[in-house]
Amino acid sequence: MTMAAGPIDALRTLASPIRFSITNEDHRIIERALAPRPDSCLVTIASAGDTPLECLRLGAAEVHAVDVSAPQIHLCALKAAGMRELSHGEFLVLLGVVRDPEQALLLYERVRGALDDEAQRFWDRHRHLIARGLMSQGRMIGFFSLLLRGLRWTAGPEAIEDLAAIRAAEEGRRFVDSQLEKPRVRLVLQSVLGLLLIAHSRQAARVGLSSRRYATALLKRVLTRVPVADNPYVFPFLFGRYPSTDHVPPHLSAVGYAQARPRVDRLRLHHGCIRAFLSTLPEATVDGFELSNVVDWQGTEETAALLEEVARTGRPGAPVLLFSRNGAPTIPRQLRDALEEDPEEDVRLLALDRSGFYRAVVRWRVRTNHLSKSPSSQETARSW
Ligand SMILES: C[S@@+](CC[C@H](N)C(=O)[O-])C[C@H]1O[C@@H](n2cnc3c(N)ncnc32)[C@H](O)[C@@H]1O
Repeated sequence: MTMAAGPIDALRTLASPIRFSITNEDHRIIERALAPRPDSCLVTIASAGDTPLECLRLGAAEVHAVDVSAPQIHLCALKAAGMRELSHGEFLVLLGVVRDPEQALLLYERVRGALDDEAQRFWDRHRHLIARGLMSQGRMIGFFSLLLRGLRWTAGPEAIEDLAAIRAAEEGRRFVDSQLEKPRVRLVLQSVLGLLLIAHSRQAARVGLSSRRYATALLKRVLTRVPVADNPYVFPFLFGRYPSTDHVPPHLSAVGYAQARPRVDRLRLHHGCIRAFLSTLPEATVDGFELSNVVDWQGTEETAALLEEVARTGRPGAPVLLFSRNGAPTIPRQLRDALEEDPEEDVRLLALDRSGFYRAVVRWRVRTNHLSKSPSSQETARSW
């Protein structure tokens, strides 16, 4: 099993301006929870752009993708521009799903004109990320790539082969017991790699782990819950590439690409906080929300303020999809008349998750629009 990058490349990726180069939110969950109609207006966290592109594939009339991180917005803009300008095969090369550094740079020159000035400046400065294979250039993947280097170093290359071949959670448990519990493996993964988790320490603190133990705890959780082989939501995080072009999120398949591509002009990108973006929208105008796991990134008060905007801007019945690494979020008391939960459906949704990352997936629905605040337009809508 070849590793995605050498140790130097993996370390360089930790300094990438992009945190998420691909998304680990399973499209099966998004599809079931949001089920957009042809006239649906959806609001989603942008992240690596994969969820917004999936929403286009599913046929939404309008998709607003919002992110506080400018590099994530530039990444979405590049993916959207690529989808508009390139054939399916070329798109896979631009994203590094199919590796061809020289061709990827040539393709960037072709799509560059479809980007706004800011995105052009960003990607002109970061052409090296495109040359190295964009899909693996997020810090999240860089972190796992180092973890794997540590594992290979301490447990040997056969352990990496075994890891890539895990086809069931039971095999994953055996791998954890036989490999990750070895004292020298634990020492390296916990002490050396623990130091690299500074960027993640906030999340680690929230789940009550020292950042030293966070890496191994996360790896153990994933491996004991989901298979690795053929899994488009785990394999690329460990190995920096998809298992094959047959095991990719649907918008990257030939059929899914053909569905999403003609709709790419329906995507609107917004740089800023999602609560502030929603505050610019009129009441009862959104048909579905995909809020990623923002609840893990912010405090309960900020989340309550966001959900108030969700309740105000959602049409009655609009689904509100939330992921969480730390446990199931609950509807704030003041919004219990505005949002309704369906715990049985949440169990079914979590069962669809192939990332192994999330402890909870919830899909609430907007009940009524009892909150009313006047919109204040601060955000700039940027259609790429
Ligand atoms: C919450 S993170 C989770 C990533 C996810 N697990 C994935 O695989 O894509 C996704 C994105 O949310 C953005 N984000 C976090 N809080 C936000 C907020 N309040 N408003 C807008 N974007 C936010 C981050 O910048 C990041 O790019």
